[in-house]
Amino acid sequence: MTPLDGSRASRAARSPHGATAFLQDAVAGLRSTPKRISPKYFYDSEGSLLFDAICELPEYYVTRTELSILEAKAGEIAASLAAGGPCRVVEPGAGSGTKTRLLLRALGPKRCVAYVPVDIAGDHLEQTAAQLRDENPWLRVVPIAADFSEGLPLPEADARAARTVVYFPGSTIGNFDPDEARRLLARFREAIGPKGHVLLGVDLKKDPAKLHAAYNDSEGVTAAFNKNVLRRMNVELGADFDLDAFHHYAFYAPVPGRIEMHLVSARRQVVHLGGHAFTFEDGESICTEHSHKYDLATAERLGRSAGLSLADSWLDDGRRFAILLFHAAA
Ligand code: AVI
Repeated sequence: MTPLDGSRASRAARSPHGATAFLQDAVAGLRSTPKRISPKYFYDSEGSLLFDAICELPEYYVTRTELSILEAKAGEIAASLAAGGPCRVVEPGAGSGTKTRLLLRALGPKRCVAYVPVDIAGDHLEQTAAQLRDENPWLRVVPIAADFSEGLPLPEADARAARTVVYFPGSTIGNFDPDEARRLLARFREAIGPKGHVLLGVDLKKDPAKLHAAYNDSEGVTAAFNKNVLRRMNVELGADFDLDAFHHYAFYAPVPGRIEMHLVSARRQVVHLGGHAFTFEDGESICTEHSHKYDLATAERLGRSAGLSLADSWLDDGRRFAILLFHAAA
C-alpha cells in the first residue's frame, strides 16, 4: 500500500487525473485477492475532518505524543539539525501544521535558510507558503509542486548554500509497507546529499491493548473514517456499497508489527462499481490500511537499508513515539 498523509492525499484525489486514478485503483484493488484499497483514498474533505477528529481522541495518543516531544525538545532537535551550519527544511506533504511551526521557530532565522514544502497541489502550496511567510517574516518559503513519492526535485543553488533536512513527521512512514518505506527513505537520502539529515516521526511498538484501543475508539470515529472510503466510492465512482453491511475491523498483528484495518462484509453480497460486479463472501474483507509500528532497532535497520545512519532519537517518557534523526551514511 502506498499511502499519503491526510491533507496531501485529499488534494491528490482532487487533481485532474484524480477521479480516473481512483476508479482504476478501486477496480484493481477490488479485483485482487485479498481485496484492498489504498489508504490514500480515506482523505477527501470529509475524511480529512475525520482524521483531525481521530487526532483529538483520548485513545489516539500518536499526534499528541509527537507534539509533546517537540514541545519539550524542539530546541535540542534544532541544535542537532544545524550543528554543521544552517539548513533548509524540506517537508514532503507540505505540513504547515503545529509540528512544522514548532520546528521552524526553534531553528529561527540564523539556522533555517529556507522552508521547502513539496506538494502535489499548487494552490494549497501557495496558501501554506503565504501563511507561513505572514507568521514568520524572516522565513524564506520555496514551495515545490511535485509528487514526493516519485522524487524530490530540489533547487540546486539552495542545496549548495545549506544542508538539507527532510522532515517527515506524523508516523506517515508507518503507512508504507517495509519495501516502500525503504524506497521512500532512499529517495530522501538522495535529496539530502552527503551532509544532510532526515528527521522522521515513528510510532513505537507497545502494549497491543493500547494499540488496539487507538484504532478502535469508543466513539466510532475511526470506524467512520474507515467507512469513508466506501462512501467516497459511492459518491464519486457511482458504486452501491451498503455502508451498514461492512464492519470496521482493526487489529494489531505483532509479527509484522502493524495495525491492519479492514472492512469486513457482514453477509454475502454483490457490489457494483465502474461497470463491474464484485462478490463479497460473508466475512470477506477489504484491507484499507497498514500502520507499521517500530522499535528503535528496526527503525535503525530500515534507515540503514536506505543509506541512512541513526544519529539521535527523542522519545516521550512513556516510549510511545520517537523522533529520529538520521544522517546520510558514510
Ligand atoms: C496518517 N496515519 C499515520 C494514521 C495512522 O495512525 O496510521 C492514519 C490512521 N488510521 C487510523 N487512525 C489513524
